[in-house]
Amino acid sequence: MLRQILTYPDPFLSTRALPVKRVDGKIRDLIRDMFETMYASNGIGLAATQVGVGKRVIVVDVSPAVEEEVKPLALVNPEIVEKWGWVEGTEGCLSVPGVEGMVCRAESVVVRGRNEDGDPVTVEADGLLSRAIQHEIDHLEGILFIDRLAAAPASAK
Ligand code: NI
Repeated sequence: MLRQILTYPDPFLSTRALPVKRVDGKIRDLIRDMFETMYASNGIGLAATQVGVGKRVIVVDVSPAVEEEVKPLALVNPEIVEKWGWVEGTEGCLSVPGVEGMVCRAESVVVRGRNEDGDPVTVEADGLLSRAIQHEIDHLEGILFIDRLAAAPASAK
């Protein structure tokens, strides 16, 4: 089922998502809907807060935008446990249509969380996958990429 993507300045996008206690059928439905909604909008990542659900769930699939083969990734309660490097890159967001900007992110990250079956997973990511994961985890903290633009106008905060 397609879900509606909230757009800036919807105040819900600035709220912090709560941890998922149990990965049950409802969470799996949410993950399936988030993938469907993301693909329908040609996005490479989506956070639950963007579809109005205050739970710590993200989906990422950067495969349309990179050369190498990358699997779609769903993470429940994702947490960055290690990061290194520093790199600038262009970002956009389905919740901020028509806007792109340069954002500094860690070059590589190690992320821990649970998959759609509730099993613990550890993901090491670099390149666009690393950037997308950090962007989506920001959403769970109520942070948009426009909050991180070096030269963001005061009106965009
Ligand atoms: Ni986004």
